Amino acid sequence: MHILTSTTALLAIPGAAAQLNQLAKAAGKLYFGSATDNNELSDSAYVKILKDSNMFGQITPGNGQKWQYTESSQGSFSYDSGDEIVNFAKTNNQIVRCHTLVWYSQLPSWVSDGSWSTSQLTSVVNTHIANEVGHYKGKCYSWDVVNEALNEDGTYRDNVFYKVLGESYIPLAFKVAAAADSSAKLYYNDYNIEGTGSKQAAAAKIVKLVKDAGAKIDGVGMQAHLIVGSIPSQSSLESAIKSYLSAGATEVAYTELDIRFSSLPASDSGLKQQADDYTTVTKACLANKACVGITIWDYTDKYSWIPSVFNGAGAALLWDENLKQKPAYTAVSSVLKAAATKSAVSDTATVTTLSTAIKPTATADACAVAKYGQCGGKGFSGCTACAAGASCAATNDYYSQCV
Ligand code: G3I
Repeated sequence: MHILTSTTALLAIPGAAAQLNQLAKAAGKLYFGSATDNNELSDSAYVKILKDSNMFGQITPGNGQKWQYTESSQGSFSYDSGDEIVNFAKTNNQIVRCHTLVWYSQLPSWVSDGSWSTSQLTSVVNTHIANEVGHYKGKCYSWDVVNEALNEDGTYRDNVFYKVLGESYIPLAFKVAAAADSSAKLYYNDYNIEGTGSKQAAAAKIVKLVKDAGAKIDGVGMQAHLIVGSIPSQSSLESAIKSYLSAGATEVAYTELDIRFSSLPASDSGLKQQADDYTTVTKACLANKACVGITIWDYTDKYSWIPSVFNGAGAALLWDENLKQKPAYTAVSSVLKAAATKSAVSDTATVTTLSTAIKPTATADACAVAKYGQCGGKGFSGCTACAAGASCAATNDYYSQCV
């Protein structure tokens, strides 16, 4: 068993120029990620940053896996858009949060406007999920199985699924997804459930509903589309996370984080406030081991969804429209780095309990990872041999580093 001494542990902290995913992993998270969309992949300057797995270890397709695109007419499936993003992530050694299976929006009218019996709509849901999850089997770290099922007051949204099947459509969706890919983590995903309140309490009840029905649910995705200066307190964020774990989830994630200005341009003090707000969310995730990662809903203001929906609002992301890092980037990076440092110095216990399955296996590969580079961890398929003078040490189950 490899036990790091405090001196070697300190060496495991990524260097000054370390990037978000490197830092998040060194702090014990599984990933720091970004959503993206197909038309953005022709922007080479944008792609250069997106494809760097030190920066983003996880990708979410922003649109291409939605029902509107994958089964636009009944029984006719197309995965071209989703495949492009999933293949991009694979090429770049990034894991994928797959998004999303059952949602009232971006739902083709043949589903939303159909007049269905319960057995007919059950069959439609079944076919859609079995086909799509089956297509992506083994390629998704997680699936957002049901998205945005709740109103703000915690009652169920009156969508076609609820109208015809009642709340049972939710456990149904989870059962079918689990049957189609038993290893993908299955999530309920929603917005305005990051802090405590009626909607958060209802989201916790959904976890229980699914479990009581004998179906598998692993996580709750807190979208976190937030507003600068009015985000929940850190203790409210942490309580919400705990409520999902108490209800039976084994993990949570911030799945679509962005923190927008209601009006633009942003002032310097506004940018400072935004940085503080990103810090608060990042700290809430760091405070609980079961928070596996943070995904921002695209990384640059250039491609944010916000201005097209909230007139006059925006500038919600970590990079500006010119792909320049904002104060919020520095804030997130600093908080992760501080946590990585703490984790490397104090968490030798974690290192000693790593399962053998994910321990780095030093091989006689011709490849050699430079000092401080990644050399192992769950889901890692890159080179596991370190350059001369360094050896591969596990920081956590998901990240081993040449130190
Ligand atoms: O595909 C058409 C294209 O053919 C057409 O030329 C173009 C013209 O406007 O529109 C394209 O569709 C747009 C689509 O994004 C793809 O770009 C839709 O109009 C537009 O409404 C759609 O917006 C997406 C939105 O979901 C729809 O609700 C955003 O990109 C996407 O970021 C956003 O993501 C959601 C999450 O899935 C769930 N949580 C909230 C989040 C933000 O709304």
